[in-house]
This record gives sequence, C-alpha cells and structure tokens, in this order.
Amino acid sequence: MNQMNVAVPADGSLRHQGPELLLAHAAVKARPLTLGAAEGPCRIALVGFGTVGQSVARLLQSRSDERSLCLTYVCNRGIARKMASWTGPDVVWTESMQEILDSDADVVVELMGGLDPAYELVVRALRCGKSVVTANKQLIAHSGSHLLQLASEQGKYLGFGACVAGGVPVLSGLQDGLAGDRIVKIRGILNGTCNYILNRIEQGGISFAEALREAQQAGFAEADPSFDIDGQDAAAKLAILARVGLKVSLEPEKVTCRTIRNLSAIDFAYAKELGCTVRQISTATMKDGQIYAAVGPSLVGNDCSLAKVSGNQNLIVSTGEFGGDTMFGGQGAGGDPTAVAVLSDLMQAAGCRSAEQASFQPARVSSCEATLEVESSHYLRFVVRDRPGIIAALAAVFAKHRLNLHAILQKPGYEKECLPFVITLEPCAQRLLTMALDEIKGFDFLVEPPVSMPIVQ
Ligand SMILES: NC(=O)c1ccc[n+]([C@@H]2O[C@H](COP(=O)([O-])OP(=O)(O)OC[C@H]3O[C@@H](n4cnc5c(N)ncnc54)[C@H](OP(=O)(O)O)[C@@H]3O)[C@@H](O)[C@H]2O)c1
Repeated sequence: MNQMNVAVPADGSLRHQGPELLLAHAAVKARPLTLGAAEGPCRIALVGFGTVGQSVARLLQSRSDERSLCLTYVCNRGIARKMASWTGPDVVWTESMQEILDSDADVVVELMGGLDPAYELVVRALRCGKSVVTANKQLIAHSGSHLLQLASEQGKYLGFGACVAGGVPVLSGLQDGLAGDRIVKIRGILNGTCNYILNRIEQGGISFAEALREAQQAGFAEADPSFDIDGQDAAAKLAILARVGLKVSLEPEKVTCRTIRNLSAIDFAYAKELGCTVRQISTATMKDGQIYAAVGPSLVGNDCSLAKVSGNQNLIVSTGEFGGDTMFGGQGAGGDPTAVAVLSDLMQAAGCRSAEQASFQPARVSSCEATLEVESSHYLRFVVRDRPGIIAALAAVFAKHRLNLHAILQKPGYEKECLPFVITLEPCAQRLLTMALDEIKGFDFLVEPPVSMPIVQ
C-alpha cells in the first residue's frame, strides 16, 4: 500500500484534485519528508495511560535525541489519578477523547485495549486527518483491513507493529525484510501467559490450577485468563501475522483453538520420555490456496528452537519458499518492550523512516475448514480405571477410523483406579482423530476425557 507522507485535508479532497496537484504530491512523497517539518516536531496524543502508555511516555522523555516527536496530550478516564509531573510541563491532561480529536495532535496513540471505544476513536482520528499508532491486537485482527483502507483513503499512517510479540519486530520483518520471498508457513509461541504456566508445570511438577494461581500472583495472568489459555489471544496475533506474512485474509474466529486447561505434570513426564516438551504453538500454513490455522498445546521435540522458549519470550519462525526458515524472537510482552515497538511506529508516522507501512493488501481469501485435514503425529493421554480389554477397545476404534498406533507408554507407580498411559499415533488427519475420540469419550473406563496434542517435528 502506498502511503503519502503529506498532510491531506480531513475530507480527503486530495483525491479529487487535478493531475498537476497529484503529481506535485507524488514528488513530495518521493523525498523523505518529516511529517510536520514545516510546523516543528510531530505532536503525539496518548490515549490510555496504563502499562504500555506510561512506558511510551517514559521512552519519549528519555529519547532527547528524538526531537521529531513531542508528547503533547495524555487522555485517560479518571485522569486526576494518572497525572505525572515527570512527563514535563507542556503535556495537556484530559479525559475527553473529543478534545484529542479537536486538538492539533498529528498522531493519536491508542493504548486502551478492547474494541469499544478504541474502534470508534481510531476511525474518528483517521477521519479528522490524524495518523494512528496502536498496540491493540483485537482491534487490528478484527478491523485491520477496514482501518488500513480508511488510513490509505485519508493519506494517513496506521501503525500496529506492537500488536504481535511486543518488542519483536516480526511484522516489519515479514513485511519489509522478507518482502522478496513467498512465505508459506508461520508458526510460533505468541502467548507469554501460556508459556509461563507450561514452564511452571514442567519445572515444579505442579497442577495446572496451581501454575495458573502462581501466574496470576506474579502478574503474568489476568483475573479471567480464558482468552490466553483457551487460545483466542494467540489466534488474534496469528490472524495479523497471516495477513501480513501470508497475505491471506484470516478471521481470528476461524482459527482452530484448543485449551491448555486439561494438561498436567504427567504430560510433561511422558513428553520427556518421547524426547519432547509441551508448548502452546500457533501455526498458519498456506497449501494449495488453502489456509490451515490452529493454536493449541503441542509436543515439541527438545531440539526444536520452540522448545527452548521460556517466560514471556516469544519466538516466531517463518518459512519462505526460497529463503527457508527465519526466526524472530525476544520479549513478547511488558510495558517497555512494547513501548519500543510503539515508538518505532511513531518514528515511521513522523516520516523519520521511508519504508512503507505494514499492509494487509492484497489479501487472498481462503477457507479455514481444511485445517482439520492437516496430517500430523499425535500424542493421546488417557486416565482409566484399569481392567482387561482397554487397549483392545481403543485399538478397535482406531482401526475403524484407519488410524495407526505408533507406541504405547505406561509409567509404573500409579493407582489402578486412576491409571495414566499414553498412545502415540502415526501421522493422521485431525478430522479422523476427532471422530475416533468422540467415540472413545463414551467408554466407561475413562476417569477423565483424553488429552490430545499434535507432535511438532
Ligand atoms: N502490557 C503488555 O505487555 C502489552 C503487550 C502488547 C500489547 N499490549 C496492548 O497494549 C494495549 C494497552 O495495554 P496495557 O497493558 O497498557 O493495558 P492497561 O495497563 O490496562 O492500560 C490501559 C489504560 O487505558 C485506560 N482505559 C481503558 N479503557 C478506557 C476508556 N474507555 N477510556 C479511557 N481510558 C481507558 C485504562 O484506565 P484505567 O486505569 O482506568 O483502567 C488504563 O490506564 C492493549 O491493547 C494491549 O493488548 C499490551
């Protein structure tokens, strides 16, 4: 998408002007013009003064070398409790978004999160001729195409580099650094909360509930952690990665999500026997014009780079048809790393860098239904009341659905009334496995529903 680093009237009237004027603007675009060069530094209005908003303000304060950016407004509800003298005397504090829209700010930085009122603010800011930078993955995953279209029509910049993987420049890497390749697959660890919980179960041999409680106490999980642990947070990020990297239109709701809630220490013990660990893996693959997109716990071989990711680290591996694998890794969350990504977008918005902004266009529209046809090896963990004939009963169902057993593992030392064991399957389609598991769930010897995970090679 071509982006014009020139001021455009709020009504977009540039598009209706004569050929000479358009040519003149094209020439202006060709040289690296600083936004507001004639009027001094780029004026920034922060909306949302929480974890990331405060880090952005501090980073702006500390970058005295960065004279092209100037914080002029901070907007938040209940603003009196947010006011801070360290931002300097020139900042206007307000709780009125209308005041921001009416102000002379060049760029609005949306850091409230959520869709309401963030969506309306961003639309109105673009419509009244302001560029926008946001870290809001939900907003971009759901409305990115429409907002980028609006920004383009208005000749304004919409930056969203902080939406995926915090401070890791994966979106600009996919958009610019790998522009010469055709990316066919993106997979990675995109959610720090899941990573923390899985690390704690693995290291401490504790239950999921205990690990979640620890994560909440340490500030790594929200009071309602569903969005993280059930996969929707990573699905929103994967949708943005797929749009920018694979150039495909992917709605986050179409991503197949599996929860990490049913995992326990025994899964890590069995994974270890298989030379693996367990991670929440997000995968989007293009094949024959179809997109396969899924988020969920997977067995990952200990040699795989994804197995070594811990804490709030994120790692994304993109696979190009020509360049092969490229890795993007680092701090995936936290105020300061995310603020770095916001500032990088602000510098671009201010015209300090000449690269074009990340774009969702052109996007192919593709069905996600085929995700269920993707073949992979699987790990299945059962907990049963032991009695003769259990393996025979399971094997009969697998045979009916043409699924091949690879191995059976059973660790000693467990009660017969609550006996865990693992079956691994040779590569098979998720659709066939789902049908088999639906039948198996009816068996009365099961103490709890089986746990199923793909094995990442
Ligand atoms: N934190 C991270 O590590 C991280 C990483 C990547 C991306 N992000 C994204 O960055 C954005 C901000 O995250 P955050 O962690 O900074 O969140 P946060 O700490 O909860 O800050 C949000 C701020 O926005 C204010 N706010 C919320 N709704 C508002 C409304 N309707 N009107 C006015 N002010 C409102 C909140 O005010 P109150 O104080 O009254 O609640 C708070 O000060 C989110 O989109 C998030 O997904 C965060």
